[in-house]
Amino acid sequence: DIVGRRHARRSGKYNKTISPMSKTIQAIRGMNDILPEETPLWHFVEETVRELFGNYGYGNIRFPIVEETRLFNRSIGEVTDIVEKEMYTFADRNGDSLTLRPEGTAGCVRAVLQHNLLYDGAKKLYYEGPMFRYERPQKGRYRQFHQFGAEALGYAGPDIDAEQIVMLGRLWKTLGLTDVELYINSIGDQEARARHRDELVRYFEAHHADLDDDARRRLHTNPLRTLDTKNPAMQSLVEGAPKLADYLNDDARAHFEELQALLGAADVAFHVNPRLVRGFDYYNRTVFEWVTTKLGAQGTVAGGGRYDGLVEQLGGKPAPACGFAFGTERLVLLLREQQVMGLSPTPDVYLVHAGVGAAAGAMQAAETLRGAGLAVHMHLGGGSFKSQMKKADASGAHFAIIIGEDEVATRQVSVKPLRETVATQLRLSATDAARHILGSRLPAAPKHSK
Ligand code: HAM
Repeated sequence: DIVGRRHARRSGKYNKTISPMSKTIQAIRGMNDILPEETPLWHFVEETVRELFGNYGYGNIRFPIVEETRLFNRSIGEVTDIVEKEMYTFADRNGDSLTLRPEGTAGCVRAVLQHNLLYDGAKKLYYEGPMFRYERPQKGRYRQFHQFGAEALGYAGPDIDAEQIVMLGRLWKTLGLTDVELYINSIGDQEARARHRDELVRYFEAHHADLDDDARRRLHTNPLRTLDTKNPAMQSLVEGAPKLADYLNDDARAHFEELQALLGAADVAFHVNPRLVRGFDYYNRTVFEWVTTKLGAQGTVAGGGRYDGLVEQLGGKPAPACGFAFGTERLVLLLREQQVMGLSPTPDVYLVHAGVGAAAGAMQAAETLRGAGLAVHMHLGGGSFKSQMKKADASGAHFAIIIGEDEVATRQVSVKPLRETVATQLRLSATDAARHILGSRLPAAPKHSK
């Protein structure tokens, strides 16, 4: 009924995506188009990351966006926000329960085990691509977002923990990012966590009246997550709770101390945050986050940690591991905030043509020039020379190549520099024109400027 629908729309139940009134189909809420205007910045980030991760010895791995649901239940943990309420889960046509990956670690480890990649020792891997979480969209938080993730499998650390953190520090520097701060913590090993957990449950039970709904619900399933509560009314209760740091065994403590020493040696500043626990069950010992104050509530740029038990838990031979991921959207937002620009590519040549036989000549000339390594925008769709030359100017190209009936007759092209005050036009063969243009190229300008 109309009133109900109007009310629902006003109350936000119908978002613009599925409004029955709108004629054009819109993207799903929280899932963004990335337009050509923005992609230069994405390319800048992506190319920088690929090169940097490669330099640290990480090989690229690609695995499906869809996995069996139980993979995520088992690795991320049944009683986590992601598994409880954020996964895009659906029945395949044959009834199997499938899920769009909410993160990459589970799929990466699954692939590593399936292909026995650890047979000849430790491996460093990185991946990139879209992840899906049914979260409430806002600036920096989306339902389809993109991550770069790195996983080092078969390394007991803490050297690898430190190296990953240092690698991220270098990435921020290379990208020109400032204002990203590092928080680290150790959440200890299984048995320390179990002892701490028992104490925590006892403590929360003793303060049952002060717990909020989430905390009550999680009291026996995942009390640790309550330490991470955003509820201001719970803060003082949480402050007084038993501290995991007091339960760490000697090995875990030494691991954490060594990590701090290595970070110090590498000149990476950090804060120890004893409350940092992160929302996945697979972590143990080191956890870390890089956080900025520049993105409002969604300030966590990167997060990661050690997950020594996951490989075995997913059916592999035990192998210690450490990894992290960062959100590409958040980096791009930060870069834009700091006015770091990715340069849009401009063509070397804009090719204009008119007259009998010129279209065919233009096509041939364009391919000759491209074969020589030039970026050529060929004018499409006809029009006068005058209007085509305007387009050539606007394209930012350094040269126009002009083909009219004269050029067709002599199987030549005219070369006109577009960025010089005194411009001499030359008549050359397409091959010589390519040579001429390549020869006049300025030494490459810095690819990305601030
Ligand atoms: P995570 O902390 O859930 O960790 O995500 C890592 C990063 O992805 C976040 O710091 C944030 O930048 C970005 N991110 C997460 N959710 C969203 C969202 N809804 N919208 C935009 N960006 C988002 C993991 O995913 C672990 N798999 C990291 C890891 C790898 N640990 C070990 N290995």
